[in-house]
Amino acid sequence: MTPKYCSKPVITKTDQLKRAGLYPFFRAIQSSQASSVTVNGQQQIMIGSNNYLGMTHHPYVQEAAIKAIERYGTGCTGSRVLNGNLEIHQELEERLARFVGHQSALLFSTGMQVNLGALSVITGPRDCMIFDSENHASILDAARLNLGATFKYRHNNMESLEQVLSDNVGRFNHCLIVADGVFSMTGDVVNLPEINRLAKKYGAMIYIDDAHGLGVLGESGKGTLNHFGLADQIDFTMGTFSKSFASIGGFVSGSEDAINYIRHSARSFIFSAAPPPTAVATVSAVLDLLMSDPSIIQSLWDNVAFMRQGFKQLGFYCYDSNTPILPIFIGDELRSMEITNYLAEQGVFATPVISPAVPKDESLIRTSYMATHKRSELERVLDVFAKVKSKFTLQSLSQ
Ligand SMILES: Cc1ncc(COP(=O)(O)O)c(C=O)c1O
Repeated sequence: MTPKYCSKPVITKTDQLKRAGLYPFFRAIQSSQASSVTVNGQQQIMIGSNNYLGMTHHPYVQEAAIKAIERYGTGCTGSRVLNGNLEIHQELEERLARFVGHQSALLFSTGMQVNLGALSVITGPRDCMIFDSENHASILDAARLNLGATFKYRHNNMESLEQVLSDNVGRFNHCLIVADGVFSMTGDVVNLPEINRLAKKYGAMIYIDDAHGLGVLGESGKGTLNHFGLADQIDFTMGTFSKSFASIGGFVSGSEDAINYIRHSARSFIFSAAPPPTAVATVSAVLDLLMSDPSIIQSLWDNVAFMRQGFKQLGFYCYDSNTPILPIFIGDELRSMEITNYLAEQGVFATPVISPAVPKDESLIRTSYMATHKRSELERVLDVFAKVKSKFTLQSLSQ
């Protein structure tokens, strides 16, 4: 009999892909120089990360992380509530709150924990949460932990959001609209001005997950709220340190009262160890650079413009993305794996995105760019994609 875990057969698509030599996940990176990595002894240009600013390898940032280890050690070995609270945690909270334009902020050990913890307590049993159908998985999981009702609206579709609001607002004490600032797979930006208008009209609160907007959008990378000039209108925003901030951890920000409430009620904050000193020092150093050197963000946007134009000339469809995430529509799932493997053979590290992350038959290769990609690396990537075009038959999506 075939053994089963959680009622799923053990022989899965995964095994079939492995047998066909097409399994593109868990590739072991032997060393990294940010814009390129070494895999199986081969150097590959990295276009599959979230390291938008390339700060993981900046000497100033690395030096700050090393100094933090020397001063505080490698870990906090406990929750902030008890033995794990460092002065640098509190200093960073104050800086991040100022950075995004809110009164107060609270650090967590991952961005996933921010969403699980904050979203499970901001609304309660008599409230409701309304979220975009393409929000990140951590928001969907938070909805399962939340004791109130949850509703979805169609992705970035404001008529659909208004319908959900008008059907439900009167039935609940509070409603919270939750959306990603920049959607992680397709790279599109939330329609925040319209969400804000609808929230005011129906008396709802707003929570923006800005994992992919911070360090990228707005003045000095202050994120999606700043990009739209709406920081003082939006109740909550969250960010993660696992992307532009070159580390691990996350934060939620909002009014002093709201953050104080989350600090004393979010279980993923209270019952988990504090972010390590290296992470805190890394984020602080990235903030220093963002505030003092505008050329970092300028280089990022120059690289994005170069790649967007290059893909357009080659005839690839990038979902009209206006961010460093440039997804390449492939369609067929198997084809996206074959192309990922081919890219790797040619020295380009990219990642396929398949169902359930995107609808079936809408597979894509998610490419993303860094401030620190060299022009020669980007030209090489475009050369390889030109070869993809002639080697594979590609579907087109009605654009
Ligand atoms: C939109 C979004 N929110 C939250 C998270 C979770 O962040 P972390 O990696 O810090 O757990 C991610 C990470 O992939 C994300 O893309």
